[in-house]
Amino acid sequence: MKSAVLFDAYGTLFDVYSIAAKLEHYYPTQGAALAAAWRDKQIDYTRLVTTSNGGVYYQPFDALTLAALKTVCAARGVDLSSDIEQALMGQYMTLTAFDDAHRTLAALKARHTVTGILSNGTPDMLAAATRSAGLHEVLDHVLSVHTLNPPQYTTAIRAYGLGTSATGLAAQDVTFVSSNAWDVLGATWFGYRTVWVNRSRAPWEGLGVLTNTYPAHTISCLSELLDII
Ligand code: LAC
Repeated sequence: MKSAVLFDAYGTLFDVYSIAAKLEHYYPTQGAALAAAWRDKQIDYTRLVTTSNGGVYYQPFDALTLAALKTVCAARGVDLSSDIEQALMGQYMTLTAFDDAHRTLAALKARHTVTGILSNGTPDMLAAATRSAGLHEVLDHVLSVHTLNPPQYTTAIRAYGLGTSATGLAAQDVTFVSSNAWDVLGATWFGYRTVWVNRSRAPWEGLGVLTNTYPAHTISCLSELLDII
């Protein structure tokens, strides 16, 4: 039976460590803290524009990413020159993939499983990253929420619906893989079979009282997917 595996992009397939390393280069001792704050603020802004006033304040992911960087640098009192800004934003376009990403995707394709990315990144960001990491040849779909009309970020239901529309499969026949617990929750609530990539052995974020708040599987690296698909 036909099935598909869709992946979140940043932090799941693409290693965003290089962004923290670049931040550390420019702002010694503050790289990790800045990277974490930048990521949190970036995701905060996606929720802000998706949940406010029917989405009229939507801006593409690169614009929100830049806005988040400016906020975080200003809040921490670090100087963001235009050269550093360009270098940091450029890093999103040339990310490397986790070292097991290509072989895991290739093995899934060899089993005739449909593969894809479903991400908040813009089509341009995702095209650049998949090409830079060499993943373009092992992905059937690269799905961006930016192509929705009107666009909405995950965890909006329409954002996850891109996957069922593109593959023609029912949600339960699609496995959604993310390293973000919140993304796994959103995808689980949409009806996908979900897999949480927990590389850092973080505790699960189950929200306590709700039902249906667990991934079907938790793995510690992408290649473990091959044991459960
Ligand atoms: C994405 C971010 C949330 O790829 O990781 O959508």
